[in-house]
Amino acid sequence: MKIWSDTEYVYRCLADESRTLAFKAEIEAVVKPGDVVLDVGTGSGIMSIFAAKCGARRVYAIEVGKYLAKVSRDIFSESDFADRIVPLRIEARELELSMIEKPDVVVCEQVTTGLIGEPQGPVMNALKRAGIIDSQTVIIPAAIATSISLVQADFNFYGTELKFPIFVDYFTKSFDKRYQALSDERVAHSVNFCEDFNEKVMIAETLKVSRTGCINGLLLTSRTNFTNIPELLGTCVSYCQPVILPLNNIDISEGSAVHVSVQFEMGGGFDSLQYEARAHRLG
Ligand SMILES: C[S@@+](CC[C@H](N)C(=O)[O-])C[C@H]1O[C@@H](n2cnc3c(N)ncnc32)[C@H](O)[C@@H]1O
Repeated sequence: MKIWSDTEYVYRCLADESRTLAFKAEIEAVVKPGDVVLDVGTGSGIMSIFAAKCGARRVYAIEVGKYLAKVSRDIFSESDFADRIVPLRIEARELELSMIEKPDVVVCEQVTTGLIGEPQGPVMNALKRAGIIDSQTVIIPAAIATSISLVQADFNFYGTELKFPIFVDYFTKSFDKRYQALSDERVAHSVNFCEDFNEKVMIAETLKVSRTGCINGLLLTSRTNFTNIPELLGTCVSYCQPVILPLNNIDISEGSAVHVSVQFEMGGGFDSLQYEARAHRLG
């Protein structure tokens, strides 16, 4: 089973105000006094603290990482909510309903673009199989949609062309200049976490070329949806970083079409990723 736990990345999440404040607003909109909340992958513990501040009667804060579990346990025990937050060091996919009270609200921020990297998809399905999540459970975030588009990107790093995946938001303001869109952007995959979904993602789309040029990258962009905040949470530095997957150069002209296929296992990381783009020949 692939484990995903990284302390530096958890700090990056904590410091990402647009992400963290969006989750805070949704938790405040959803969690009622007396609720039971499950925080899946508590990391710094911030989501559990938000839930406790809303009056949650019990918050189960689960974390797989040894160091992170220790740090968050210490944070909770020194907080005003030590009697209401229950830390548990466990792999989320091994959690059983008998270990906790059934939650009214589940907060799970194990989100990466397409759900390729972190195990949000497998974790959500495991919690459903365990009877911890059902149709009554409010899940934060509720859904995710991933779109694809074709770009011409600048893969030049330090004077060398590196056809390495580019994570867009890692770059500063000047990053916009590193790629330009050459096709329409199409929502190619959507998941509602409450519903059944297949962890094996298979995307096949034909994109329309909007500008003549040379395609060398496939841009994947994911946006999540909260139940009470209708707008999708946009991409941000620690969450759903758009990624440009390198492609072999394809010369294309405006109005033509390109077939794109993408396959991966949710939570399987880039090891599981297969993708290609080829020009669509008419007739
Ligand atoms: C993106 S961080 C989010 C941390 C924190 N909840 C927040 O929103 O700031 C994901 C957290 O989930 C934990 N995690 C990842 N996979 C897990 C799993 N299968 N079971 C339990 N925790 C997991 C990681 O160690 C990490 O702390």
